[in-house]
Parts: sequence; structure tokens; C-alpha cells
Amino acid sequence: MKKGKKLYEGKAKILYASPEKNLAIQHFKDDATAFNNQKKATIEGKGILNNRISEHILSNLNQIGIKNHLVKRINMREQLVKIVEIIPIEFIVRNIASGSLTKRLGIEEGTILSRPLIEYCLKNDDLGDPLISREHILTFDWLNIMELDWISEECRRINDFLQGMFRGVGIKLVDFKVEFGRSLQDDNIILADEISPDTCRLWDSATEKKLDKDIFRKNLGNLIDGYQEVLTRLGLQIN
Ligand code: TMP
Ligand code: ASP
Repeated sequence: MKKGKKLYEGKAKILYASPEKNLAIQHFKDDATAFNNQKKATIEGKGILNNRISEHILSNLNQIGIKNHLVKRINMREQLVKIVEIIPIEFIVRNIASGSLTKRLGIEEGTILSRPLIEYCLKNDDLGDPLISREHILTFDWLNIMELDWISEECRRINDFLQGMFRGVGIKLVDFKVEFGRSLQDDNIILADEISPDTCRLWDSATEKKLDKDIFRKNLGNLIDGYQEVLTRLGLQIN
């Protein structure tokens, strides 16, 4: 499929225009960043693994009624997606304490939460993606209350699905981040962006070995080995 002009470039992906109305080509780069762009590297093959894993997850979510932007994967690095206007909020769901939650509240790493915790962050690199409350979202009209409740419920459904899927292949879903947008086609809010080891924390169930971007954030070894392990356990291949 012929790529048109670049519509948007983020830290890990590029969006290009496509020949089809209201659809774009999402290209997965090999770039990795952490700590709001302070740490950067190019890790050969990362984009290919994330493209395949995210395709698998989003197409499965679609099959259980969680509407999302994925139309189809086009090749090793690219997907055809519905163009959305991204809602400037990162929705984080946590099952086990890790990362910024442990730092912010002093909760011990690895603590199993009594219920999934949803957090909201403003998607703004200049401000370092600050944590915000439901009240901020409503006060600044980023979403209305019905939209916010609906998205929060979708986050719980996504969490239930992903937790079961990963548990079945010996992986603990510690936490993840998702983004939603308004489809240009019909203005409906749908899941967008990607779900991959870049956007989840995934630990081996038996050893708690990290299989996600924390390998890069914390210099724990070869990131590709971890992502490849996730791909293989999910029964996927690169093709
Ligand atoms: P945190 O513990 O750093 O707040 O991250 C929570 C989860 O969200 C973790 O799975 C990583 C993911 N995440 C992103 O995908 N993008 C981001 O910009 C941040 C800060 C976190
Ligand atoms: N993606 C963010 C960054 O590039 C943060 C992270 O994933 O750690 O800085």
C-alpha cells in the first residue's frame, strides 16, 4: 500500500496518510525512549515485534467487542488504522505495584493490589505527563462524565482480557497504558495507539523476570530477547 504524507511522528511510531479515506498507515519504529525522552536508543527489530504483538492483542480485543483503530496489519512494520483524534489522556491500569506508583506513594514493588487501579495522566511531554484526577478531566472538559466512565469500564474489560491471556502463557500483567481517540469516520471513541511490551509491564509468572520495556529503562539485558519471548509464548510468529 502506498504511503502518503507524514501526518504525525511520535517517539515509537509514525502515522502516514493512506490511499483510503479516514484511514492511516501506522509505522512502528525501532526507537526506544524512557523517562520522558531522557534516555534514547535504537533497538533493531523492536518495531517488528511490537507491530505483531499489538496486532494480535487489538484484533482479539475487537473479537470480544472492544472497538479499536486496527483495520489490519499490512507488513512487518505497518498497520492500516482508523484515523482518530487522540484524547490527551494516558489511561494506566495497575494490578501489581511497580514503576511510578511505588515511587509516588512508597508502595512496595510487587505488592498485589486488592483491585485493579486506574490512573489518568495528561499526555503532555513538556509537562512530563503529570498524574491527573477525574476532576481535572471533567473540569477541563477533556471528556464528559459518561465518556470517562465508559472508557474506565473499557479499561477494566481490557485488563480482564489481557490478564487472562497473559496468565495462560505464564506471564503476569503488572500494569499497562492505553490511549483512546475519536474516530474521524463517526466520532465514536475507540481504543487506539498500541498495546505491546513497550506499553505494558510483563513479568514471567515463575521467576518474575521482566519481559517488557523495563529491560531498557533499567538496563536489565537484551530487550529483543524479552519481547521475542512474549511473542513466542503467545504462539505468534513474524511473517
Ligand atoms: P509508570 O509506572 O511509569 O507510570 O508506567 C505505568 C505503565 O504505563 C507501564 O506499563 C508503562 C506504561 N507507560 C507507557 O506506556 N508510556 C508512558 O509514557 C509511561 C509513563 C508509562
Ligand atoms: N514512553 C515514555 C518516554 O519516552 C516513558 C516510558 O515509557 O518510560 O519517555
